[in-house]
Amino acid sequence: MRIDLTGQIILVTGASRGIGAEIARQLAASCATVAVHFSASSASAEALCAEIGNDARAFQADLADSVAADGLFTAVREAYGRVDCVVNNAGIAVHSPLEKSLETWVADWDKTLDVNSRATAIITRASVAHFKEIGGGRLIYVSSRAAFRGDSEDYLAYAASKGAMVSLVRSIARGFGKQNIKAFNVAPGFVRTDMAQDAIDAYGEDFVLGGIALDRLTEPKDVAPMIVLLASGLSDHATGCSIDINAASYVH
Ligand SMILES: NC(=O)c1ccc[n+]([C@@H]2O[C@H](COP(=O)([O-])OP(=O)(O)OC[C@H]3O[C@@H](n4cnc5c(N)ncnc54)[C@H](OP(=O)(O)O)[C@@H]3O)[C@@H](O)[C@H]2O)c1
Repeated sequence: MRIDLTGQIILVTGASRGIGAEIARQLAASCATVAVHFSASSASAEALCAEIGNDARAFQADLADSVAADGLFTAVREAYGRVDCVVNNAGIAVHSPLEKSLETWVADWDKTLDVNSRATAIITRASVAHFKEIGGGRLIYVSSRAAFRGDSEDYLAYAASKGAMVSLVRSIARGFGKQNIKAFNVAPGFVRTDMAQDAIDAYGEDFVLGGIALDRLTEPKDVAPMIVLLASGLSDHATGCSIDINAASYVH
């Protein structure tokens, strides 16, 4: 099977680091033009654009801000003239034990859902409107094993925000399939990035490794190929699906 994404304009949110950066690399390696979104990490986003080429450009937006989230899609569409696919990957995981004060715990909850769920919904809304105009498109979401298995009691908002993504994918897939709009969910387990490092530091790598069936921790390069395949259109009849990439740490 050869995957050729020549001519596709693909927005990847949270592409400045971690899983998103590797998704951008692998999409560009299959000849897509990638809009590299970042919030704080401008230098790494610019460096990634230079590395992957093919007219990749960096776009800044703090996705905690709903206006900025909507503006991101508009900026990419105006820069390239069209968007064929969006990979909703940006996300945060805030350590938020129930012992925190109500005010702080609620602030953590709101920020997590603002970035992981609300911004994703806003970008979805803008994408669907654009895809209807251009005759179709693909939405790919990076949720988490936490959406299905649950997370620890210190990450309730994170798990809830990822659960919301799963129902969003299913609704978009069912609601807009006849308009040639497809939606897919990819659900990783622990992946070696800055986000996972806190847990690795806290519990040790052996603890994390002990939870998976394979002999090494999942890395961004193990997740990105599935996104490339879904973006290609070769798996369109999987629309609405959730694909686990968690090294059999959770099987359901
Ligand atoms: N790593 C894991 O173990 C794991 C497991 C399951 C699912 N996931 C999911 O995979 C996705 C990528 O995770 P990762 O591990 O690659 O995380 P990461 O290394 O922490 O990178 C997070 C990315 O999201 C962006 N981001 C963070 N806050 C943002 C905000 N307020 N507005 C806009 N962008 C923001 C960051 O941009 P800047 O640096 O530019 O601010 C960065 O590009 C997330 O949705 C995460 O929930 C990760």
